[in-house]
Amino acid sequence: MRIVLLGAPGSGKGTQAERIVERYRLTHVSTGDLLRAEVAAGTPLGKQAKSIMEAGELVSDQIVLGMIEQRLGKPDTRNGFLLDGFPRTLAQAEGLDGLLNKLAQPLDVTLLLEVDYDEIMQRLLARKRADDTEDTIRNRLKVYDAQTAPVIDYYDKQGKLRRVQGVGDVRAIAERIFQVLDNSA
Ligand code: AP5
Repeated sequence: MRIVLLGAPGSGKGTQAERIVERYRLTHVSTGDLLRAEVAAGTPLGKQAKSIMEAGELVSDQIVLGMIEQRLGKPDTRNGFLLDGFPRTLAQAEGLDGLLNKLAQPLDVTLLLEVDYDEIMQRLLARKRADDTEDTIRNRLKVYDAQTAPVIDYYDKQGKLRRVQGVGDVRAIAERIFQVLDNSA
């Protein structure tokens, strides 16, 4: 299965991604994790991305698409993958479709985790990652509304979007997701 997991910052993408990849034996590809690994390793890309991420802005489409192309070229994605935190702009969604057409591996489904912003603010302020300050969280949500919301419509128009309520017990949310995925397979 090939899945995109969409949702605002703090909606629980990473938390649910772990459960989904375990159940369906998929490869988890998180652009946030890939970028944080570049930052930690102090690579040129990481140095470029660090301040952008700390400000809650988006790293350029060109960099992120390059990273994804490289990652999806690896053999461990052949039996299915889950993309977490990507695509985040229309250009990334279109770039992904182009890439997956070339690989003859179309997406099966896009899951959208829905969580209100007050709940998100509480969750992220409790976590304390470098980009979890109140101002940065507000900016990440603003960027999500401006740049990622159109991606939701993009997949909705393709008939691939499934919405899942992302508030409450983590295991109960996972069960709702599994139901959706079992019906999409
Ligand atoms: P990224 O790493 O993708 O972060 P994000 O989208 O801001 O999402 P988070 O990791 O904060 O939240 P999440 O939805 O994964 O939720 P989580 O499970 O962690 O991106 C970071 C930055 O990298 C971006 O701002 C950008 O700069 C850059 N970037 C990444 N991808 C990019 C792209 N494609 N293009 C350009 N730039 C890109 O949960 C959050 C917290 O809530 C945790 O503490 C968790 O324990 C808790 N929690 C989870 N579920 C529940 C629940 N049900 N109830 C209560 N608490 C819960």
